[in-house]
Amino acid sequence: MKSAEKMKIRVDLNNMFVEQVGKEQGIEREEVDSLQGRTKEAHHNIHQNKPGFMDLPYKQGEVVADIIQYAEEMRGEFENFVVLGIGGSALGNIALQTALNDPYYNYFPEARKGAPRLFVPDNVDPVRFKSLIHRLDLKKTVFNVISKSGGTAETMSQFLIARQAVEEELGEKEIARHFIATTSSQKGYLIEIAQKEGFKTFYIPENVGGRFSVLTPVGLLSAAFCGINIKQLLEGAAFMGEGCRSDQLWDNPAYLHGALQYLAYHKGKPLSVMMPYAHSLKDIADWYRQLWAESLGKERDREGNIVNAGPTPIKALGATDQHSQVQLYMEGPYDKVITFLEVDDYGVKVNIPELYQDIKGVSYLGKHTLNELIQTEKNATELALTRRGRLNNTIKLPVINEFTTGQLLYMLELETAFVGELFNINAFNQPGVELGKHYTYGVFGREGYEKHRAEYQKRSSGDDKLLL
Ligand code: PA5
Repeated sequence: MKSAEKMKIRVDLNNMFVEQVGKEQGIEREEVDSLQGRTKEAHHNIHQNKPGFMDLPYKQGEVVADIIQYAEEMRGEFENFVVLGIGGSALGNIALQTALNDPYYNYFPEARKGAPRLFVPDNVDPVRFKSLIHRLDLKKTVFNVISKSGGTAETMSQFLIARQAVEEELGEKEIARHFIATTSSQKGYLIEIAQKEGFKTFYIPENVGGRFSVLTPVGLLSAAFCGINIKQLLEGAAFMGEGCRSDQLWDNPAYLHGALQYLAYHKGKPLSVMMPYAHSLKDIADWYRQLWAESLGKERDREGNIVNAGPTPIKALGATDQHSQVQLYMEGPYDKVITFLEVDDYGVKVNIPELYQDIKGVSYLGKHTLNELIQTEKNATELALTRRGRLNNTIKLPVINEFTTGQLLYMLELETAFVGELFNINAFNQPGVELGKHYTYGVFGREGYEKHRAEYQKRSSGDDKLLL
């Protein structure tokens, strides 16, 4: 436990408050206190309804053992592991890979230590998908088809194309060896196909939605294939779960971080920027963007009232976006909360050489390290934002490893569930994306969507003058 304590991630929320950012923009402690009653209620609801993601760190012993064994047995057989999936069925895979493996993992065999390369197209762009399928040596490729619903058009199209390519190149008999299905055990077409074809199958618990599924086989299988220690990832999540047991707002990091964003939203700050100062965390910011947007962006509250709620999550990257976004964050509208992700120990140190001593504008860099540079730039940006009354906070990771990443993912998931409670919306559905899907089904001739097809065909093409 002592070493777990050393690996604990911390949240520094000082720069959200009036003492640091001033009265005009900052939050008063009393405003936080005033949410304590609702926090107790929210806590009660969360623990009563227990969204499935909360059990994942504790109740997956058998699944995890199966994943590890399967990954160990199969890893050597394949050079490429391809995830076919989209949204919550893809982003967690990418986030874990970027956070925990070598930045050039796919490019260099020594960076992979015998594990396969990972590809997650997360789209149906024809150029990108064709290029991938045509370049892969299919003999040495395994596809994990991930879909909770088992019917998502993008994922199933990717699967149909990949399946045909494998059949054409390797023959019908080889199909089962090259496909894994990760899906619901109870519904959808993917499970039907997987059973018919004899695919190795992993299940997504019914009570875990796509964007909360990174710690199910959805994210764990590719991680295990690529050499990530998934047990430590889950231990990290469990550790954060223990640290977030309190119903007291001031003692619960997930709740307090969420409550402050909620208060800021109601003070005219609907934009929530996540800005890691570690390149490897950039896809966690992308994952968080989906988690926050799909969970909290809702038209109606639980009583059916129109509320059109939801903060807009934005991903940024330090130091890169100091040269792109920070001007806006410093001087644009006071409509943002910036959450920095900071790392104490990057695991490597890179010295900046002492060259060109006669050129003062360059020589000052020597004797320092890239570590000092990126950390100082974070601190300097934080200070400048704070001085200008811009609300910000920092999630501090002692190092980036499985244990700290597990903590971070779990904290953000719990925070999302909590903020959903404060907004009194259902954080676990996504009714807003259905209509667009239904038009697509209609146009593609899927049975049951004839009305949508007709509506689509009748859509107005607008005014020609506005088509320039
Ligand atoms: O978070 C979600 O629920 C969505 O982003 C889904 O993950 C995404 O739409 C893919 O759905 P499915 O896994 O059913 O194919």
